Amino acid sequence: MEPNYPIHLPDFFIGDPAPAYRDLRRNSPVHWTSANGGFWGITRYEDIKFIGSRPHLFSSAKGVLMPDGKPRTVEPRPMLITTDPPRHKALRQLISKGFTPKHISAMEPDVRAIMRGVLDSVKPGIELEYAEGIVAKVPVRIIADMLGAPAEDWEQFRAWSDASVGSADPDIKLSSQDAFGALTTYFRHLIELREQGRSNDLISILMDAEVDGESLSHEELISFLHLLLVAGNETTRNLIALGTVALINHPAQLRMLVDDPSLIPTAIEEMLRYVSPVTHMTRWATEDVELRGKTIKKGQAVVLLYGAANRDEDVFGDTAEQFDITRRPNPHLAFGTGEHACLGLSLARLEARVFFEEFLARFDRIELTGEVVRMRSTMVPGIRTMPVRLGAANESAVR
Ligand code: HEM
Repeated sequence: MEPNYPIHLPDFFIGDPAPAYRDLRRNSPVHWTSANGGFWGITRYEDIKFIGSRPHLFSSAKGVLMPDGKPRTVEPRPMLITTDPPRHKALRQLISKGFTPKHISAMEPDVRAIMRGVLDSVKPGIELEYAEGIVAKVPVRIIADMLGAPAEDWEQFRAWSDASVGSADPDIKLSSQDAFGALTTYFRHLIELREQGRSNDLISILMDAEVDGESLSHEELISFLHLLLVAGNETTRNLIALGTVALINHPAQLRMLVDDPSLIPTAIEEMLRYVSPVTHMTRWATEDVELRGKTIKKGQAVVLLYGAANRDEDVFGDTAEQFDITRRPNPHLAFGTGEHACLGLSLARLEARVFFEEFLARFDRIELTGEVVRMRSTMVPGIRTMPVRLGAANESAVR
């Protein structure tokens, strides 16, 4: 009998999906779930690479979220992430102008200053909220700073951003549509300011970007700014918070990292692999395709389960299920694969590295003091709250 798992529900991802992923990779790697109008779940690394590199057969245009069973009244808003070739290539080339390695590494001093601003007020020895209270402040401030938004707008920015992606979470009160509208108005305001005089922020760079005589329309620019918040905020927060939980659950690895901070870059790659902050992305078959004896029919949804690929024994061997901060090589798919692979991956890596450098220099012990409460999302089921007590690094040096 075919395995049967509720892949369409947040609970599947919030619990530990690893045993189900193992079973699916082995026994039903191209797996049909009939809930929500039906979709194929893909769990093997090789198959996800195959699908991700064939956008003409597997389109993103109908949206990248897994089907939710609700009748579709409007098509997804056109964004880079839901644009197919050939248009995708031109759009991505234009937008990449704001994401060159030079631009990203030039951001390091600002990123570090933002981390320090957040961490300097954190006190050791008392119970405090880590996910919402510390980590959540970081990525959204960095994106806001990148856009040239003034610091006094950052918290408002964060509230809109959380609401525009967190509609599945009952705790978030502002509707996603209202948050989207508020952000659009705010972006228009930032663009108008740049029309009067450019500065060296991302919006100015993107307003001036040209490829083959073409530049971004204001609508394309606004839709990209929305995507930045959706794609770059919750995801990075989830990596840092779930990565910290992985360290807490593996105390010997945490100790190794505290003793040797030069391991932070490989530790971050392992966090990306092990926690897979973005669980999946969806594609839509443009024609009938045979895969491992199954027929994916034209028009059907195909859900690429990146977290399952990241535990594939065929790639990561016998230690695929282990958390090993020294793992090398680590060709994980946490940032996706193919032409839609994450545009912000250098920024995400920079943020996570600088966060752990600054954090572990201050605190070398982290103790969970209560329940880890997760976000009810199938795509980015991050951590809503996790109370911790931190031990100051200089105190343990004295002891
Ligand atoms: C740990 C953090 C992050 C993770 C795990 C992550 C993951 C992903 C994944 C899996 C995709 C592939 C989409 C697909 O297959 O359809 C993607 C695309 C994308 N990401 Fe990220 N992301 C992260 C951070 C960021 C950041 C910080 C930014 C920008 C500030 C960003 C911007 C984007 C954009 C613009 C795309 C769309 C690229 C395209 O369609 O060509 N991401 N990301």
